[in-house]
Amino acid sequence: LNEEELAYLPYKVYYYKEVTSTMDIAKEIAEKGEEALIIAETQTKGKGRMGRFWYSPKGGIWMSLVIKPSFSLKEAYLLTYIASLATALAIEKIAGIKVFLKWPNDIIYKENDKEKKLAGILLEVKAEIDKIDYAIIGIGINVNNEISSLVPEAISLKEILKKELKRKDIIKELIKEFKDLLKVESIKILNLWKDKSLTLGRKVKIIHPEGEKMGLALDISDDGALLLKTEDTKILKIYSGDCIHLRN
Ligand code: BTN
Repeated sequence: LNEEELAYLPYKVYYYKEVTSTMDIAKEIAEKGEEALIIAETQTKGKGRMGRFWYSPKGGIWMSLVIKPSFSLKEAYLLTYIASLATALAIEKIAGIKVFLKWPNDIIYKENDKEKKLAGILLEVKAEIDKIDYAIIGIGINVNNEISSLVPEAISLKEILKKELKRKDIIKELIKEFKDLLKVESIKILNLWKDKSLTLGRKVKIIHPEGEKMGLALDISDDGALLLKTEDTKILKIYSGDCIHLRN
């Protein structure tokens, strides 16, 4: 990537060779009240969901988008659905492959019966009372990078396609899809997400700091929660956590 290639994006771009995490830079910029896109070639302390480490070697797309959406805090959940959808659509368009979504926001490639993670989203929101002050959307996509042997569940586009892709094409398409989806009504977003979902209709295990829950993933509620039907036939609304697909 070079800065010239990233011109003409509808956000101010901050481009770095190496950072701890683009989330850290994004936070500084967000606190100044700016909207921007922060992109780095590598991250030394990449952050994944649930406090995990995110491997960020050269060749991947590691970026954080700072936006000031006119959403209420109640609608913030929509941002992860929008971001994962935009990422999936951009990958499909530029790489020409079909991808799926795993709740809450993993982008998955299916290879035979194996499900491998291509990309992930990390959302941080700052709100004052009910109004969102800013949202930082971290997006990590395994494009031309090597996959660490410590993350066997991951895969890169280069491994799938046996060739390298131009990262700027994916970034431009993703930002375009993201901006378009921001204008779409919430019910439609959730329906688009459900169409690509690998999770609904499956037996899953939800891992949450407060404990694990097993059940059938039924649907996504209008307020963005995963509806889980447990063994004792209760229906639980799950707003966050990690999801493991179990064999049916
Ligand atoms: C996940 O656990 O699936 C979310 C991964 C998010 C990784 C991206 S890479 C760019 C941004 N900076 C980070 O440190 N994390 C996010």
